[in-house]
Amino acid sequence: MMRGFILILLLAVLVPLFAQDRNVFDVVDYGAIGDGKTNDTQAFENAWKAACNPESSSDSTLIVPVQKTFLLRPITFEGPCSTKHIYFQINGTIVAPSDIDQWGCDNNHCDQWIKFTNINGLYLYGNGVIDGQGSNWWATCNYNKNHCPARPTAVKIADSNYVHVRDIRVINSPEMHVVILKSSYVHITNINIFAPEDSPNTDGIHIDRSSNVNIDHSHIGTGDDCISIGTGTSQLTVYKVRCGPGHGISIGSLGKHGAEDTVEDIHVNHVDFWGTSNGVRIKTWQGGKGYARNITFENIKCHSARYPIIINQYYCDHTACKNQTSAVQISNVSYRRVRGTSVRDTAVSFACSETVPCTGIVLEDVKLRSTRHDRETLAYCLNAYGKGYGQVVPTVPCLG
Ligand SMILES: *[C@@H]1O[C@H](CO)[C@@H](O)[C@H](O)[C@H]1NC(C)=O
Ligand SMILES: *[C@@H]1O[C@H](CO)[C@@H](O)[C@H](O)[C@H]1NC(C)=O
Ligand SMILES: *[C@@H]1O[C@H](CO)[C@@H](O)[C@H](O)[C@H]1NC(C)=O
Ligand SMILES: *[C@@H]1O[C@H](CO)[C@@H](O)[C@H](O)[C@H]1NC(C)=O
Ligand SMILES: *[C@@H]1O[C@H](CO)[C@@H](O)[C@H](O)[C@H]1NC(C)=O
Repeated sequence: MMRGFILILLLAVLVPLFAQDRNVFDVVDYGAIGDGKTNDTQAFENAWKAACNPESSSDSTLIVPVQKTFLLRPITFEGPCSTKHIYFQINGTIVAPSDIDQWGCDNNHCDQWIKFTNINGLYLYGNGVIDGQGSNWWATCNYNKNHCPARPTAVKIADSNYVHVRDIRVINSPEMHVVILKSSYVHITNINIFAPEDSPNTDGIHIDRSSNVNIDHSHIGTGDDCISIGTGTSQLTVYKVRCGPGHGISIGSLGKHGAEDTVEDIHVNHVDFWGTSNGVRIKTWQGGKGYARNITFENIKCHSARYPIIINQYYCDHTACKNQTSAVQISNVSYRRVRGTSVRDTAVSFACSETVPCTGIVLEDVKLRSTRHDRETLAYCLNAYGKGYGQVVPTVPCLG
């Protein structure tokens, strides 16, 4: 009886001790002020240096405390770290300078604001906010939408593996919000990304040359793609994501300037689009090489999308692009249980290459009605081949 009691007492003391087996690095202890005005960049750099290579061998937690606002200039959190895991907990707010001149970029050119690179086992989490304060950057675009100057990404995670991003909010990026570049085993969950509907090129999450990426239980509403899937992406899962406003989920654009691009093994499941211009889109340029294959979109709901289902192999963001003989090959793309409403009559559009047609296109239980009760929806096919199963509305002429 007594021995049991002592054992429990011992455990009660020792378990929390060992559970706390992490070094804690609060940015405030490294000189950060957190008044939203002071340049706290150096303090964050110092906290990172200490957290990334702590004196003891246990894991580190870097803390960005609640109820403070930290102003950061462009900063890179670089590994490799000596810890197995590094926890970056953001419960406060991190803001970028609102004035472009204060960013300190050469000729106003910065690729990104906050970069994590070369880190294995990164946990980026917390109920805080990363605010890119992009409105002055967006304004540089307004005089000519087709020639926006290059602007920084808010958060870039590059050359890293085993990365977890959860709970945080990323808002008002000058350009793309979160970019995953040359990384693998990345899990993004329960995050919110917001920017105004008219903010230019503010993609939610962009994935590039990365594999084994999972994005789930998140809400993204911006002025451009909700999630854009670039070349070299494979084994990507998107699950339970709400998109809108914005341009929908996009694969591409692929094959620009004759590039050889590849995308494969993409699974988009349970996504709701609210007031987006596209639903699920694949876009490639004329003259490219490579492929986009084994792609599944299922359990998709479109609430007033302008183009719910679209493949465009004639993508061109300027006035004149020549037709060419080579193209990125699109095959094995399935659309299952896609429901909802389309603003345009053409709810389904497959415009595939003359020389490299789209094959293995599957539509199963697709029902897309017009937002207007007096209109019927239509489908357009050019050089696309595949099969329809179950009910498919509108009727798609190219399906056997
Ligand atoms: C902010 O601090 C960082 C790190 O010390 C420095 O590199 C940068 O020049 C500072 N920026 C401005 C505008 O003061
Ligand atoms: C920080 O945010 C996390 C959510 O990721 C929450 O669990 C935790 O309680 C927060 N801590 C503080 C001090 O607010
Ligand atoms: C297609 O992609 C899924 C992942 O979305 C993967 O599990 C499956 O093995 C792939 N199929 C082929 C034939 O490569
Ligand atoms: C390219 O080919 C497509 C499909 O055949 C056609 O609709 C389009 O007008 C052509 N564009 C040019 C610039 O020739
Ligand atoms: C497409 O899927 C079929 C099976 O449904 C498979 O035999 C074929 O190899 C796949 N082709 C490509 C290019 O993924």
